[in-house]
Amino acid sequence: MLTKLLKCVGKYKLPAVLSPIFISLEVVMEIFIPLLMAKIIDVGIKGSGGISYIIKVGGLMVLMSMLSLIFGVLSGKYASIASTGFAKNVRKKMFDKIQDFSFANVDRFSTASLVTRLTTDITFVQHAFMMVIRMMVRSPVMLISATVMAFSINSKLARVFLVAIPVLACALITVSIKAFPLFRQMFTKYDNMNSAVQESLVAIRVVKAYDRGEYEDEKFAKAASDVMDAQRRAERILIMNMPIMQIVMYACIITVLWLGGNLIAVGGMDTGELISFISYITQILMSLMGLSMCFVSIIMSRASIVRICEVLDEDVDIKNNVEGKTSVENGEIVFDKVSFSYSKDKAKLALRDISFTIGSGETIGIIGGTGSGKTSLVQLIPRLYDVTEGNIYVGGTDVRDYDLEALRSSVAMVLQNNVLFSGTIAENLRWGYENATEEELEAACRSAAAHDFITAFPDGYETFLGQGGVNLSGGQKQRVCIARALLKKPKIIILDDSTSAVDTATDKKIRDAFRSELSNTTKIIIAQRISSISDADRIIVLDDGAVNAIGTHDELLASNEIYREVYESQQKVVE
Ligand SMILES: Nc1ncnc2c1ncn2[C@@H]1O[C@H](COP(=O)(O)OP(=O)(O)OP(=O)(O)O)[C@@H](O)[C@H]1O
Ligand SMILES: [Mg+2]
Repeated sequence: MLTKLLKCVGKYKLPAVLSPIFISLEVVMEIFIPLLMAKIIDVGIKGSGGISYIIKVGGLMVLMSMLSLIFGVLSGKYASIASTGFAKNVRKKMFDKIQDFSFANVDRFSTASLVTRLTTDITFVQHAFMMVIRMMVRSPVMLISATVMAFSINSKLARVFLVAIPVLACALITVSIKAFPLFRQMFTKYDNMNSAVQESLVAIRVVKAYDRGEYEDEKFAKAASDVMDAQRRAERILIMNMPIMQIVMYACIITVLWLGGNLIAVGGMDTGELISFISYITQILMSLMGLSMCFVSIIMSRASIVRICEVLDEDVDIKNNVEGKTSVENGEIVFDKVSFSYSKDKAKLALRDISFTIGSGETIGIIGGTGSGKTSLVQLIPRLYDVTEGNIYVGGTDVRDYDLEALRSSVAMVLQNNVLFSGTIAENLRWGYENATEEELEAACRSAAAHDFITAFPDGYETFLGQGGVNLSGGQKQRVCIARALLKKPKIIILDDSTSAVDTATDKKIRDAFRSELSNTTKIIIAQRISSISDADRIIVLDDGAVNAIGTHDELLASNEIYREVYESQQKVVE
Protein backbone atom coordinates (compact mmCIF):
# COMPACT_ATOMS: atom_id res chain seq x y z
CA MET A 1 0.00 0.00 0.00
CA LEU A 2 2.70 2.39 1.11
CA THR A 3 5.05 1.57 -1.75
CA LYS A 4 2.30 2.44 -4.19
CA LEU A 5 1.91 5.87 -2.61
CA LEU A 6 5.65 6.39 -2.36
CA LYS A 7 5.93 5.97 -6.11
CA CYS A 8 4.06 9.27 -6.31
CA VAL A 9 7.17 11.07 -5.01
CA GLY A 10 8.30 10.85 -8.63
CA LYS A 11 10.59 13.68 -9.69
CA TYR A 12 10.65 15.08 -6.16
CA LYS A 13 13.03 12.31 -5.05
CA LEU A 14 16.04 14.63 -4.88
CA PRO A 15 14.52 17.17 -2.47
CA ALA A 16 13.05 14.23 -0.51
CA VAL A 17 16.61 12.94 -0.02
CA LEU A 18 18.29 16.33 0.49
CA SER A 19 15.96 17.30 3.31
CA PRO A 20 16.97 14.43 5.66
CA ILE A 21 20.65 14.96 4.78
CA PHE A 22 20.52 18.62 5.76
CA ILE A 23 18.56 17.90 8.89
CA SER A 24 21.15 15.31 9.95
CA LEU A 25 23.87 17.94 9.49
CA GLU A 26 21.81 20.32 11.61
CA VAL A 27 21.66 17.71 14.37
CA VAL A 28 25.43 17.14 14.24
CA MET A 29 25.97 20.87 14.81
CA GLU A 30 23.50 20.93 17.70
CA ILE A 31 25.12 17.92 19.33
CA PHE A 32 28.55 19.53 19.53
CA ILE A 33 27.33 22.79 21.02
CA PRO A 34 26.79 21.48 24.63
CA LEU A 35 30.21 19.83 24.45
CA LEU A 36 31.83 23.18 23.61
CA MET A 37 29.86 24.77 26.41
CA ALA A 38 31.25 22.21 28.89
CA LYS A 39 34.75 23.06 27.63
CA ILE A 40 34.18 26.80 28.18
CA ILE A 41 33.10 26.16 31.78
CA ASP A 42 35.58 23.51 32.73
CA VAL A 43 38.67 24.72 30.83
CA GLY A 44 37.93 28.40 30.12
CA ILE A 45 36.42 29.51 33.43
CA LYS A 46 37.41 26.96 36.04
CA GLY A 47 40.59 25.74 34.36
CA SER A 48 43.60 27.48 32.90
CA GLY A 49 42.20 28.37 29.45
CA GLY A 50 41.54 32.05 30.13
CA ILE A 51 39.68 34.60 28.07
CA SER A 52 41.37 33.79 24.77
CA TYR A 53 40.24 30.14 25.06
CA ILE A 54 36.68 31.27 25.86
CA ILE A 55 36.63 33.58 22.80
CA LYS A 56 38.03 30.88 20.54
CA VAL A 57 35.59 28.18 21.64
CA GLY A 58 32.73 30.73 21.85
CA GLY A 59 33.47 31.75 18.23
CA LEU A 60 33.30 28.12 17.22
CA MET A 61 29.94 27.82 18.98
CA VAL A 62 28.60 30.83 17.05
CA LEU A 63 29.84 29.33 13.78
CA MET A 64 28.19 26.01 14.56
CA SER A 65 24.90 27.70 15.44
CA MET A 66 24.98 29.61 12.15
CA LEU A 67 25.65 26.41 10.21
CA SER A 68 22.92 24.64 12.14
CA LEU A 69 20.53 27.43 11.20
CA ILE A 70 21.47 27.28 7.52
CA PHE A 71 21.13 23.48 7.40
CA GLY A 72 17.77 23.73 9.17
CA VAL A 73 16.45 26.26 6.67
CA LEU A 74 17.66 24.20 3.69
CA SER A 75 16.11 21.06 5.11
CA GLY A 76 12.81 22.86 5.65
CA LYS A 77 12.87 24.21 2.13
CA TYR A 78 13.51 20.85 0.49
CA ALA A 79 10.98 19.14 2.76
CA SER A 80 8.24 21.48 1.66
CA ILE A 81 9.17 21.13 -2.02
CA ALA A 82 9.11 17.34 -1.67
CA SER A 83 5.91 17.09 0.36
CA THR A 84 3.85 19.53 -1.68
CA GLY A 85 5.10 17.89 -4.88
CA PHE A 86 4.23 14.48 -3.46
CA ALA A 87 0.72 15.66 -2.56
CA LYS A 88 0.26 17.10 -6.04
CA ASN A 89 1.26 13.79 -7.62
CA VAL A 90 -1.07 11.77 -5.36
CA ARG A 91 -3.94 14.13 -6.18
CA LYS A 92 -3.23 13.83 -9.88
CA LYS A 93 -3.09 10.04 -9.70
CA MET A 94 -6.31 9.88 -7.73
CA PHE A 95 -8.08 12.32 -10.02
CA ASP A 96 -7.00 10.32 -13.08
CA LYS A 97 -8.31 7.15 -11.47
CA ILE A 98 -11.65 8.81 -10.68
CA GLN A 99 -11.94 9.86 -14.31
CA ASP A 100 -11.90 6.15 -15.19
CA PHE A 101 -14.61 5.36 -12.65
CA SER A 102 -17.90 4.07 -13.92
CA PHE A 103 -21.14 5.55 -12.59
CA ALA A 104 -21.37 2.52 -10.32
CA ASN A 105 -17.94 3.24 -8.81
CA VAL A 106 -18.89 6.85 -8.11
CA ASP A 107 -22.19 5.71 -6.56
CA ARG A 108 -20.24 3.40 -4.26
CA PHE A 109 -17.99 6.14 -2.79
CA SER A 110 -20.34 9.13 -3.11
CA THR A 111 -19.01 12.34 -4.59
CA ALA A 112 -18.63 13.99 -1.18
CA SER A 113 -16.38 11.24 0.07
CA LEU A 114 -14.27 11.46 -3.08
CA VAL A 115 -13.90 15.20 -2.50
CA THR A 116 -12.78 14.66 1.12
CA ARG A 117 -10.31 12.04 0.01
CA LEU A 118 -8.89 14.31 -2.68
CA THR A 119 -8.52 17.27 -0.31
CA THR A 120 -8.43 16.64 3.46
CA ASP A 121 -7.02 13.13 3.38
CA ILE A 122 -4.22 14.03 1.01
CA THR A 123 -3.37 17.07 3.16
CA PHE A 124 -2.96 14.79 6.19
CA VAL A 125 -0.73 12.45 4.23
CA GLN A 126 1.30 15.39 2.91
CA HIS A 127 1.86 16.54 6.48
CA ALA A 128 2.88 13.04 7.58
CA PHE A 129 5.27 12.77 4.64
CA MET A 130 6.91 16.03 5.70
CA MET A 131 7.19 14.72 9.26
CA VAL A 132 8.76 11.51 8.05
CA ILE A 133 11.46 13.16 5.97
CA ARG A 134 12.26 15.70 8.67
CA MET A 135 11.33 14.65 12.21
CA MET A 136 11.61 10.93 11.57
CA VAL A 137 15.23 11.55 10.61
CA ARG A 138 16.02 14.35 12.99
CA SER A 139 14.69 12.63 16.12
CA PRO A 140 16.43 9.25 15.86
CA VAL A 141 19.73 10.84 14.77
CA MET A 142 19.53 13.23 17.69
CA LEU A 143 18.39 10.51 20.10
CA ILE A 144 21.28 8.24 19.22
CA SER A 145 24.01 10.87 19.11
CA ALA A 146 22.86 12.61 22.30
CA THR A 147 22.71 9.24 24.08
CA VAL A 148 26.22 8.37 22.90
CA MET A 149 27.47 11.76 24.08
CA ALA A 150 25.72 11.39 27.44
CA PHE A 151 27.21 7.92 27.94
CA SER A 152 30.65 9.18 26.98
CA ILE A 153 30.42 11.93 29.61
CA ASN A 154 29.27 9.66 32.39
CA SER A 155 28.00 6.18 31.71
CA LYS A 156 26.68 5.61 35.23
CA LEU A 157 24.55 8.72 35.17
CA ALA A 158 23.31 7.85 31.69
CA ARG A 159 21.70 4.69 33.02
CA VAL A 160 18.76 6.88 34.01
CA PHE A 161 17.77 6.66 30.34
CA LEU A 162 17.58 2.90 30.48
CA VAL A 163 14.54 3.35 32.70
CA ALA A 164 13.08 6.47 31.12
CA ILE A 165 13.12 5.44 27.46
CA PRO A 166 11.17 2.13 27.77
CA VAL A 167 8.56 3.81 30.00
CA LEU A 168 8.06 6.52 27.40
CA ALA A 169 7.99 4.13 24.48
CA CYS A 170 5.28 2.00 26.13
CA ALA A 171 3.17 5.07 26.89
CA LEU A 172 3.47 6.40 23.34
CA ILE A 173 2.60 3.08 21.74
CA THR A 174 -0.50 2.70 23.93
CA VAL A 175 -1.69 6.18 23.02
CA SER A 176 -1.15 5.47 19.31
CA ILE A 177 -3.08 2.21 19.36
CA LYS A 178 -6.01 3.83 21.13
CA ALA A 179 -6.13 6.86 18.84
CA PHE A 180 -6.18 5.12 15.45
CA PRO A 181 -9.81 3.92 15.34
CA LEU A 182 -10.95 7.31 16.59
CA PHE A 183 -9.26 9.01 13.66
CA ARG A 184 -10.96 6.67 11.23
CA GLN A 185 -14.29 7.67 12.73
CA MET A 186 -13.34 11.31 12.40
CA PHE A 187 -12.84 10.97 8.65
CA THR A 188 -16.25 9.38 8.20
CA LYS A 189 -17.71 12.42 9.95
CA TYR A 190 -15.75 14.64 7.56
CA ASP A 191 -17.40 12.77 4.68
CA ASN A 192 -20.81 13.45 6.15
CA MET A 193 -20.03 17.12 6.63
CA ASN A 194 -18.75 17.53 3.08
CA SER A 195 -21.79 15.76 1.75
CA ALA A 196 -24.04 18.17 3.68
CA VAL A 197 -22.13 21.13 2.26
CA GLN A 198 -22.08 19.77 -1.25
CA GLU A 199 -25.71 18.83 -1.35
CA SER A 200 -26.98 22.13 -0.06
CA LEU A 201 -24.63 24.21 -2.21
CA VAL A 202 -25.39 22.33 -5.42
CA ALA A 203 -29.08 22.66 -4.69
CA ILE A 204 -28.90 26.17 -3.20
CA ARG A 205 -31.66 27.39 -5.50
CA VAL A 206 -34.03 24.67 -4.35
CA VAL A 207 -33.11 25.34 -0.73
CA LYS A 208 -33.99 29.01 -1.16
CA ALA A 209 -37.13 28.36 -3.18
CA TYR A 210 -38.48 26.09 -0.45
CA ASP A 211 -37.17 28.38 2.26
CA ARG A 212 -35.33 25.43 3.77
CA GLY A 213 -32.27 27.49 4.76
CA GLU A 214 -32.87 26.94 8.45
CA TYR A 215 -33.24 23.19 8.04
CA GLU A 216 -30.03 23.05 6.00
CA ASP A 217 -28.33 25.21 8.65
CA GLU A 218 -29.28 22.72 11.33
CA LYS A 219 -28.19 19.80 9.19
CA PHE A 220 -24.82 21.42 8.64
CA ALA A 221 -24.46 22.44 12.29
CA LYS A 222 -25.03 18.83 13.30
CA ALA A 223 -22.50 17.53 10.77
CA ALA A 224 -19.95 20.14 11.90
CA SER A 225 -20.42 19.35 15.58
CA ASP A 226 -20.10 15.63 14.80
CA VAL A 227 -16.70 16.38 13.28
CA MET A 228 -15.81 18.42 16.35
CA ASP A 229 -16.86 15.63 18.74
CA ALA A 230 -14.99 12.98 16.79
CA GLN A 231 -11.87 15.11 16.60
CA ARG A 232 -12.13 15.95 20.26
CA ARG A 233 -12.37 12.29 21.22
CA ALA A 234 -9.28 11.51 19.17
CA GLU A 235 -7.31 14.52 20.41
CA ARG A 236 -8.28 13.82 24.02
CA ILE A 237 -6.19 10.70 23.83
CA LEU A 238 -3.40 12.29 21.86
CA ILE A 239 -2.85 15.20 24.22
CA MET A 240 -1.78 12.65 26.84
CA ASN A 241 1.53 12.53 24.94
CA MET A 242 2.66 15.93 26.17
CA PRO A 243 2.17 15.52 29.95
CA ILE A 244 3.69 12.02 29.82
CA MET A 245 6.73 13.46 28.05
CA GLN A 246 7.10 16.27 30.52
CA ILE A 247 6.76 14.11 33.62
CA VAL A 248 9.45 11.79 32.32
CA MET A 249 11.67 14.70 31.26
CA TYR A 250 11.54 16.53 34.58
CA ALA A 251 11.90 13.29 36.54
CA CYS A 252 15.06 12.61 34.53
CA ILE A 253 16.43 16.10 35.08
CA ILE A 254 15.78 15.96 38.83
CA THR A 255 17.36 12.53 39.14
CA VAL A 256 20.40 13.58 37.13
CA LEU A 257 20.79 16.83 39.11
CA TRP A 258 20.58 14.88 42.36
CA LEU A 259 23.02 12.17 41.35
CA GLY A 260 25.25 14.55 39.40
CA GLY A 261 25.37 17.04 42.27
CA ASN A 262 26.53 14.28 44.58
CA LEU A 263 29.17 13.24 42.05
CA ILE A 264 30.48 16.82 41.76
CA ALA A 265 30.62 17.04 45.55
CA VAL A 266 32.89 14.00 45.75
CA GLY A 267 34.92 15.17 42.72
CA GLY A 268 33.67 12.48 40.35
CA MET A 269 32.36 14.97 37.76
CA ASP A 270 32.94 18.54 36.53
CA THR A 271 30.23 21.26 36.65
CA GLY A 272 30.51 21.86 32.90
CA GLU A 273 30.01 18.17 32.27
CA LEU A 274 26.82 18.13 34.33
CA ILE A 275 25.47 21.18 32.48
CA SER A 276 26.14 19.62 29.10
CA PHE A 277 24.71 16.34 30.37
CA ILE A 278 21.47 18.14 31.18
CA SER A 279 21.49 19.68 27.66
CA TYR A 280 21.78 16.18 26.24
CA ILE A 281 18.87 14.99 28.37
CA THR A 282 16.77 17.81 26.98
CA GLN A 283 17.87 16.87 23.47
CA ILE A 284 17.11 13.19 24.02
CA LEU A 285 13.68 13.86 25.46
CA MET A 286 12.91 16.47 22.83
CA SER A 287 13.78 13.96 20.16
CA LEU A 288 11.47 11.45 21.80
CA MET A 289 8.78 14.11 21.76
CA GLY A 290 9.51 14.65 18.07
CA LEU A 291 9.19 10.92 17.49
CA SER A 292 5.86 10.84 19.27
CA MET A 293 4.62 13.74 17.14
CA CYS A 294 5.69 11.74 14.11
CA PHE A 295 3.74 8.77 15.36
CA VAL A 296 0.66 10.90 15.88
CA SER A 297 0.96 12.29 12.41
CA ILE A 298 1.51 8.82 10.98
CA ILE A 299 -1.50 7.47 12.90
CA MET A 300 -3.67 10.27 11.59
CA SER A 301 -2.43 9.75 8.10
CA ARG A 302 -2.75 5.97 8.29
CA ALA A 303 -6.51 6.32 8.23
CA SER A 304 -6.12 8.71 5.28
CA ILE A 305 -3.68 6.43 3.46
CA VAL A 306 -6.19 3.59 3.73
CA ARG A 307 -8.92 5.84 2.33
CA ILE A 308 -6.72 7.10 -0.52
CA CYS A 309 -5.66 3.58 -1.43
CA GLU A 310 -9.29 2.45 -1.42
CA VAL A 311 -9.83 4.85 -4.30
CA LEU A 312 -6.57 3.98 -6.08
CA ASP A 313 -7.22 0.24 -5.71
CA GLU A 314 -10.92 0.37 -6.60
CA ASP A 315 -11.76 -2.08 -9.31
CA VAL A 316 -13.16 -0.01 -12.12
CA ASP A 317 -16.06 -2.25 -12.98
CA ILE A 318 -16.40 -1.09 -16.54
CA LYS A 319 -13.07 -2.11 -17.95
CA ASN A 320 -12.01 -0.87 -21.30
CA ASN A 321 -11.48 -3.66 -23.74
CA VAL A 322 -8.16 -2.46 -25.14
CA GLU A 323 -8.16 -4.98 -27.91
CA GLY A 324 -11.78 -4.18 -28.67
CA LYS A 325 -13.18 -3.01 -31.98
CA THR A 326 -12.39 0.60 -32.70
CA SER A 327 -15.22 1.42 -35.03
CA VAL A 328 -18.95 0.98 -34.83
CA GLU A 329 -20.39 -0.22 -38.12
CA ASN A 330 -23.92 1.07 -37.86
CA GLY A 331 -26.56 2.15 -35.41
CA GLU A 332 -28.35 -1.16 -35.00
CA ILE A 333 -29.13 -2.01 -31.37
CA VAL A 334 -30.12 -5.46 -30.09
CA PHE A 335 -31.13 -6.20 -26.50
CA ASP A 336 -31.01 -9.92 -25.85
CA LYS A 337 -32.65 -11.06 -22.59
CA VAL A 338 -31.13 -8.14 -20.69
CA SER A 339 -31.56 -7.84 -16.93
CA PHE A 340 -29.91 -5.16 -14.88
CA SER A 341 -29.51 -4.37 -11.21
CA TYR A 342 -27.67 -1.35 -9.78
CA SER A 343 -26.48 -3.41 -6.83
CA LYS A 344 -25.68 -6.54 -8.90
CA ASP A 345 -28.28 -8.22 -6.67
CA LYS A 346 -30.52 -10.35 -8.86
CA ALA A 347 -33.39 -9.93 -6.43
CA LYS A 348 -33.47 -6.16 -6.98
CA LEU A 349 -33.67 -5.78 -10.72
CA ALA A 350 -34.21 -2.36 -12.27
CA LEU A 351 -34.71 -4.03 -15.69
CA ARG A 352 -36.05 -7.52 -16.30
CA ASP A 353 -35.60 -9.78 -19.31
CA ILE A 354 -35.63 -7.14 -22.02
CA SER A 355 -35.33 -8.15 -25.66
CA PHE A 356 -35.85 -6.05 -28.78
CA THR A 357 -34.10 -5.01 -31.97
CA ILE A 358 -33.76 -1.47 -33.26
CA GLY A 359 -32.74 -1.09 -36.90
CA SER A 360 -30.02 1.36 -37.89
CA GLY A 361 -31.52 4.80 -38.59
CA GLU A 362 -34.81 4.04 -36.86
CA THR A 363 -36.46 6.55 -34.54
CA ILE A 364 -37.59 4.93 -31.30
CA GLY A 365 -39.67 6.51 -28.59
CA ILE A 366 -39.57 5.22 -25.03
CA ILE A 367 -42.34 6.00 -22.60
CA GLY A 368 -43.17 4.74 -19.14
CA GLY A 369 -43.98 5.96 -15.65
CA THR A 370 -41.35 7.55 -13.50
CA GLY A 371 -39.01 4.91 -12.08
CA SER A 372 -40.01 2.41 -14.78
CA GLY A 373 -36.38 2.04 -15.90
CA LYS A 374 -36.15 4.28 -18.99
CA THR A 375 -32.89 5.94 -17.96
CA SER A 376 -31.50 2.62 -16.71
CA LEU A 377 -32.25 1.03 -20.08
CA VAL A 378 -30.53 3.59 -22.29
CA GLN A 379 -27.51 3.96 -19.98
CA LEU A 380 -26.60 0.40 -20.85
CA ILE A 381 -26.08 1.22 -24.53
CA PRO A 382 -22.92 3.37 -24.17
CA ARG A 383 -21.88 1.10 -21.23
CA LEU A 384 -22.33 3.69 -18.51
CA TYR A 385 -23.32 0.58 -16.55
CA ASP A 386 -22.83 -3.06 -17.55
CA VAL A 387 -25.72 -5.49 -17.87
CA THR A 388 -26.23 -7.97 -15.04
CA GLU A 389 -27.49 -10.66 -17.41
CA GLY A 390 -27.95 -10.97 -21.16
CA ASN A 391 -26.23 -9.12 -24.00
CA ILE A 392 -26.48 -5.83 -25.82
CA TYR A 393 -25.21 -5.57 -29.38
CA VAL A 394 -24.49 -2.31 -31.16
CA GLY A 395 -23.75 -2.53 -34.88
CA GLY A 396 -23.72 -6.33 -34.57
CA THR A 397 -21.02 -6.48 -31.85
CA ASP A 398 -21.46 -6.95 -28.09
CA VAL A 399 -20.89 -3.57 -26.40
CA ARG A 400 -18.25 -5.17 -24.18
CA ASP A 401 -16.20 -6.06 -27.24
CA TYR A 402 -15.68 -2.44 -28.27
CA ASP A 403 -12.94 -0.08 -27.27
CA LEU A 404 -14.86 2.08 -24.79
CA GLU A 405 -13.86 5.35 -26.42
CA ALA A 406 -14.96 4.15 -29.84
CA LEU A 407 -18.31 2.99 -28.48
CA ARG A 408 -18.99 6.18 -26.53
CA SER A 409 -18.02 8.45 -29.38
CA SER A 410 -20.54 6.65 -31.58
CA VAL A 411 -23.29 6.71 -28.99
CA ALA A 412 -24.16 10.26 -27.97
CA MET A 413 -26.33 10.53 -24.94
CA VAL A 414 -27.99 13.65 -23.65
CA LEU A 415 -28.45 12.79 -19.99
CA GLN A 416 -31.61 13.58 -18.09
CA ASN A 417 -29.81 15.95 -15.74
CA ASN A 418 -27.10 17.10 -18.09
CA VAL A 419 -24.69 19.83 -17.15
CA LEU A 420 -22.76 22.52 -18.91
CA PHE A 421 -19.41 23.76 -17.68
CA SER A 422 -18.13 27.26 -17.00
CA GLY A 423 -16.80 28.64 -20.27
CA THR A 424 -18.23 30.02 -23.49
CA ILE A 425 -21.08 28.34 -25.37
CA ALA A 426 -18.64 27.47 -28.17
CA GLU A 427 -16.25 25.83 -25.69
CA ASN A 428 -19.09 23.81 -24.25
CA LEU A 429 -20.18 22.69 -27.70
CA ARG A 430 -16.64 21.64 -28.58
CA TRP A 431 -16.82 19.07 -25.79
CA GLY A 432 -18.73 17.11 -28.39
CA TYR A 433 -16.07 17.48 -31.05
CA GLU A 434 -12.90 19.35 -30.24
CA ASN A 435 -11.98 20.45 -33.75
CA ALA A 436 -15.43 21.49 -34.90
CA THR A 437 -15.42 24.47 -37.27
CA GLU A 438 -17.72 27.48 -36.82
CA GLU A 439 -19.93 26.11 -39.58
CA GLU A 440 -20.24 22.74 -37.90
CA LEU A 441 -21.14 24.40 -34.57
CA GLU A 442 -23.79 26.43 -36.31
CA ALA A 443 -25.25 23.45 -38.19
CA ALA A 444 -25.54 21.42 -34.98
CA CYS A 445 -27.17 24.33 -33.19
CA ARG A 446 -29.64 24.82 -36.04
CA SER A 447 -30.67 21.17 -35.79
CA ALA A 448 -31.09 21.52 -32.05
CA ALA A 449 -33.09 24.77 -32.50
CA ALA A 450 -30.45 26.61 -30.51
CA HIS A 451 -28.89 28.85 -33.16
CA ASP A 452 -31.51 31.59 -32.96
CA PHE A 453 -31.39 32.15 -29.25
CA ILE A 454 -27.58 31.93 -29.16
CA THR A 455 -27.15 34.59 -31.85
CA ALA A 456 -29.65 36.78 -30.01
CA PHE A 457 -27.13 37.10 -27.15
CA PRO A 458 -24.81 40.11 -27.61
CA ASP A 459 -21.76 37.81 -27.58
CA GLY A 460 -23.37 35.02 -29.60
CA TYR A 461 -21.38 31.81 -29.45
CA GLU A 462 -18.81 33.52 -27.25
CA THR A 463 -21.37 34.12 -24.49
CA PHE A 464 -19.84 33.10 -21.20
CA LEU A 465 -21.73 30.48 -19.20
CA GLY A 466 -21.46 30.44 -15.42
CA GLN A 467 -21.00 27.26 -13.42
CA GLY A 468 -23.50 24.64 -14.63
CA GLY A 469 -24.74 27.05 -17.31
CA VAL A 470 -26.71 29.16 -14.79
CA ASN A 471 -27.33 32.00 -17.19
CA LEU A 472 -29.36 29.88 -19.60
CA SER A 473 -32.98 28.88 -19.16
CA GLY A 474 -33.81 25.20 -18.68
CA GLY A 475 -34.98 24.78 -22.27
CA GLN A 476 -31.97 26.67 -23.66
CA LYS A 477 -29.62 24.48 -21.68
CA GLN A 478 -31.29 21.36 -23.03
CA ARG A 479 -30.88 22.57 -26.59
CA VAL A 480 -27.18 23.38 -26.12
CA CYS A 481 -26.75 19.87 -24.70
CA ILE A 482 -28.47 18.36 -27.74
CA ALA A 483 -26.27 20.39 -30.10
CA ARG A 484 -23.20 19.23 -28.15
CA ALA A 485 -24.28 15.61 -28.66
CA LEU A 486 -24.97 16.18 -32.39
CA LEU A 487 -21.44 17.49 -32.92
CA LYS A 488 -20.11 14.03 -32.17
CA LYS A 489 -21.79 12.93 -35.42
CA PRO A 490 -22.90 9.80 -33.60
CA LYS A 491 -24.33 6.58 -35.06
CA ILE A 492 -26.83 6.53 -32.20
CA ILE A 493 -28.25 9.52 -30.38
CA ILE A 494 -30.21 9.15 -27.16
CA LEU A 495 -32.28 11.96 -25.72
CA ASP A 496 -33.29 11.19 -22.14
CA ASP A 497 -36.19 13.52 -21.47
CA SER A 498 -34.03 16.20 -23.08
CA THR A 499 -36.79 18.36 -24.48
CA SER A 500 -38.97 18.38 -21.37
CA ALA A 501 -38.34 22.10 -20.83
CA VAL A 502 -38.71 23.03 -24.50
CA ASP A 503 -42.08 24.20 -25.85
CA THR A 504 -43.99 21.84 -28.13
CA ALA A 505 -43.37 23.85 -31.31
CA THR A 506 -39.59 23.95 -30.79
CA ASP A 507 -39.67 20.30 -29.79
CA LYS A 508 -41.28 19.52 -33.16
CA LYS A 509 -38.71 21.63 -34.97
CA ILE A 510 -35.92 19.60 -33.40
CA ARG A 511 -37.59 16.31 -34.37
CA ASP A 512 -38.09 17.51 -37.95
CA ALA A 513 -34.44 18.47 -38.17
CA PHE A 514 -33.45 15.08 -36.79
CA ARG A 515 -35.56 13.33 -39.40
CA SER A 516 -34.15 15.23 -42.36
CA GLU A 517 -30.53 15.58 -41.26
CA LEU A 518 -29.89 12.45 -39.23
CA SER A 519 -31.54 9.87 -41.46
CA ASN A 520 -28.75 7.32 -40.90
CA THR A 521 -28.51 7.89 -37.15
CA THR A 522 -30.52 5.74 -34.78
CA LYS A 523 -32.54 8.07 -32.58
CA ILE A 524 -33.88 7.05 -29.19
CA ILE A 525 -36.14 9.58 -27.58
CA ILE A 526 -37.35 9.21 -24.00
CA ALA A 527 -40.22 11.51 -23.24
CA GLN A 528 -43.07 12.10 -20.86
CA ARG A 529 -45.12 13.85 -23.57
CA ILE A 530 -46.77 11.57 -26.12
CA SER A 531 -46.47 14.38 -28.67
CA SER A 532 -42.66 14.11 -28.49
CA ILE A 533 -42.66 10.51 -29.62
CA SER A 534 -45.93 9.94 -31.47
CA ASP A 535 -44.24 10.27 -34.88
CA ALA A 536 -41.46 7.80 -34.00
CA ASP A 537 -41.12 4.64 -36.11
CA ARG A 538 -41.83 2.53 -33.05
CA ILE A 539 -42.47 3.18 -29.39
CA ILE A 540 -41.38 1.02 -26.47
CA VAL A 541 -43.69 1.11 -23.44
CA LEU A 542 -41.80 0.31 -20.24
CA ASP A 543 -43.55 -0.68 -17.07
CA ASP A 544 -41.80 -1.54 -13.81
CA GLY A 545 -38.52 -2.51 -15.48
CA ALA A 546 -40.03 -4.67 -18.22
CA VAL A 547 -41.15 -4.07 -21.80
CA ASN A 548 -44.94 -3.85 -21.79
CA ALA A 549 -45.45 -3.32 -25.52
CA ILE A 550 -43.67 -2.20 -28.68
CA GLY A 551 -45.44 -0.68 -31.66
CA THR A 552 -46.34 2.44 -33.58
CA HIS A 553 -48.43 5.21 -32.09
CA ASP A 554 -51.58 3.94 -33.79
CA GLU A 555 -50.98 0.31 -32.89
CA LEU A 556 -50.36 1.12 -29.25
CA LEU A 557 -53.31 3.45 -29.08
CA ALA A 558 -55.48 0.62 -30.27
CA SER A 559 -54.01 -2.19 -28.21
CA ASN A 560 -52.07 -0.93 -25.20
CA GLU A 561 -53.83 0.18 -22.10
CA ILE A 562 -50.95 2.04 -20.44
CA TYR A 563 -50.22 3.99 -23.62
CA ARG A 564 -53.85 4.85 -24.15
CA GLU A 565 -54.20 6.05 -20.57
CA VAL A 566 -51.18 8.33 -20.82
CA TYR A 567 -52.41 9.62 -24.18
CA GLU A 568 -55.89 10.35 -22.91
CA SER A 569 -54.67 12.07 -19.76
CA GLN A 570 -52.46 14.34 -21.87
CA GLN A 571 -55.21 15.08 -24.36
CA LYS A 572 -57.35 16.33 -21.48
CA VAL A 573 -54.61 18.70 -20.40
CA VAL A 574 -54.40 20.07 -23.93
CA GLU A 575 -58.16 20.58 -24.09
N1 LIG B 1 -27.83 5.11 -9.42
C1 LIG B 1 -28.81 4.31 -8.97
N2 LIG B 1 -28.57 3.44 -7.97
C2 LIG B 1 -29.53 2.61 -7.50
N3 LIG B 1 -30.79 2.58 -7.97
C3 LIG B 1 -31.11 3.42 -8.97
C4 LIG B 1 -30.13 4.34 -9.51
N4 LIG B 1 -30.74 5.05 -10.50
C5 LIG B 1 -32.03 4.60 -10.56
N5 LIG B 1 -32.25 3.62 -9.65
C6 LIG B 1 -33.52 2.86 -9.47
O1 LIG B 1 -33.81 2.19 -10.66
C7 LIG B 1 -35.20 2.27 -10.98
C8 LIG B 1 -35.38 2.82 -12.39
O2 LIG B 1 -34.90 4.14 -12.44
P1 LIG B 1 -34.75 4.98 -13.77
O3 LIG B 1 -33.94 6.17 -13.46
O4 LIG B 1 -34.30 4.11 -14.84
O5 LIG B 1 -36.26 5.42 -14.03
P2 LIG B 1 -36.83 6.34 -15.19
O6 LIG B 1 -37.82 5.51 -15.92
O7 LIG B 1 -35.75 6.96 -15.96
O8 LIG B 1 -37.62 7.43 -14.33
P3 LIG B 1 -37.84 9.00 -14.66
O9 LIG B 1 -38.93 9.09 -15.65
O10 LIG B 1 -38.26 9.55 -13.35
O11 LIG B 1 -36.57 9.54 -15.14
C9 LIG B 1 -35.82 3.14 -9.93
O12 LIG B 1 -36.52 2.30 -9.04
C10 LIG B 1 -34.67 3.81 -9.21
O13 LIG B 1 -34.94 3.91 -7.83
MG1 LIG C 1 -35.04 8.84 -16.12
